Amino acid sequence: MLDAASFYDRLARKEAAISVTGLGYVGLPVALELARKFCVVGFDVKPERVEMLRRQEDPSAELEAAAFAGCDIQFTADAADLQKATFHIIAVPTPIDKHAQPELRPLLAASASVGRALKRGDVVVYESTVYPGCTEEDCVPILEQESGLKFGTDFTVGYSPERINPGDREHTLTRITKVVSGSDAATLELVSQVYGAIVEAGVYRASSIKVAEAAKIIENTQRDLNIALMNELAMIFGKLGINTYEVLAAAGTKWNFLKFVPGLVGGHCIGVDPYYLTYKARALGIDPAVIAAGRRINDGMPGYVAKKVVQRLIKMDKDLQHARILLLGATFKENVKDIRNSKVADLYQELAAYCVAVDIIDPHASPEEMHEEYGITLSPAPSGRYDAVILATPHKEYLAMPWAEIEALLQPTALVGDLKGAWKDRLPAGQAYWSL
Ligand SMILES: NC(=O)c1ccc[n+]([C@@H]2O[C@H](COP(=O)([O-])OP(=O)(O)OC[C@H]3O[C@@H](n4cnc5c(N)ncnc54)[C@H](O)[C@@H]3O)[C@@H](O)[C@H]2O)c1
Repeated sequence: MLDAASFYDRLARKEAAISVTGLGYVGLPVALELARKFCVVGFDVKPERVEMLRRQEDPSAELEAAAFAGCDIQFTADAADLQKATFHIIAVPTPIDKHAQPELRPLLAASASVGRALKRGDVVVYESTVYPGCTEEDCVPILEQESGLKFGTDFTVGYSPERINPGDREHTLTRITKVVSGSDAATLELVSQVYGAIVEAGVYRASSIKVAEAAKIIENTQRDLNIALMNELAMIFGKLGINTYEVLAAAGTKWNFLKFVPGLVGGHCIGVDPYYLTYKARALGIDPAVIAAGRRINDGMPGYVAKKVVQRLIKMDKDLQHARILLLGATFKENVKDIRNSKVADLYQELAAYCVAVDIIDPHASPEEMHEEYGITLSPAPSGRYDAVILATPHKEYLAMPWAEIEALLQPTALVGDLKGAWKDRLPAGQAYWSL
């Protein structure tokens, strides 16, 4: 039986180390924060990321070099270094495959690496977002198989989901209540103490690992569904010829009206996590009709936006074969460099399918990554004038652009598209405009 107090003391006295596997958006902040109190081994499979981290550069561009100062951390691409740790955290990606099914390979590979390094008495805590049951049913068997140890007697596990929001400088790791769970009471106590040492907002002890897994996945599923509702409303109001934002402003005067807006749902979390839940629901024989409907609506939005823009261009007497459209922004949300699962890439393809020429620019996205991931070439800058300029990702740079600069990109008759209504209060009189 694990003795939480003495386990924690050994970590606090640095007689034992903590490992963090997967040093991305989630793993790196956790590893660095822990390394202010404990001795940490940070492991990532990508040697080039490890090289950058050793130079105190965050490959995800979320953290400044100052975040590395005063940290007791060894960055490594060698899984054998995991043996130095007794408390292991895993924060690797949990994407979906092309059939929108959970792609557990990174999680299972990371479990295998940690499993090979596991010693009697160790604890493994998962932070990756998964469906309820995944930690105990999918990951624990790999840990057992690779270590030759027995779960529950030789080692235990915990689950503590991450709730950070890329680009959000206010709700950072230490300022968000951390949900923690453990496979037994002593593990829960230890996991609470370790995270409690770094999270100022405190920890919330979930009653079981499955409860903690489910809590995380419904946070994002709820957001997804609320945005899907807004997208459906935007389609209805579009047909009615009324402005969605005007309706939301009026409805928002009621105390319990939730403040969601329509838009593209991309990225690594909100557009992905609900599929983990629908997968599990179906495995249990439940048809997750509501969640699936939300996903269908949100995944269909790039096609809807492209159709609306093209309809407006035709109404403006534009010849599609010669029309030029500029998309501003390519990342999945504003002020981040993450292009994973960006629905702007889908919008680009949908527009291109109408045979219009589309240029796309983004000061945050990497041209190499855009090309590798989507085969899309980012233009270094706009060129000439366009028949439509669409603010797809409202980065701060685009919000700060004087209107004269935007006007200089427009043909004498041109459409301004504005997916999130970010420019709606800046339009000159008579400007042709479309937003969700
Ligand atoms: N990005 C977010 O804002 C966010 C927020 C909450 C939860 N999450 C969840 O956290 C998890 C991690 O997401 P992320 O955004 O940090 O991903 P990420 O892609 O930014 O980072 C993952 C890191 O893991 C590394 N990796 C992949 N396979 C590995 C393996 N087998 N062994 C070691 N390293 C490996 C990658 O090289 C990468 O550096 C996911 O489950 C995600 O859903 C993400």
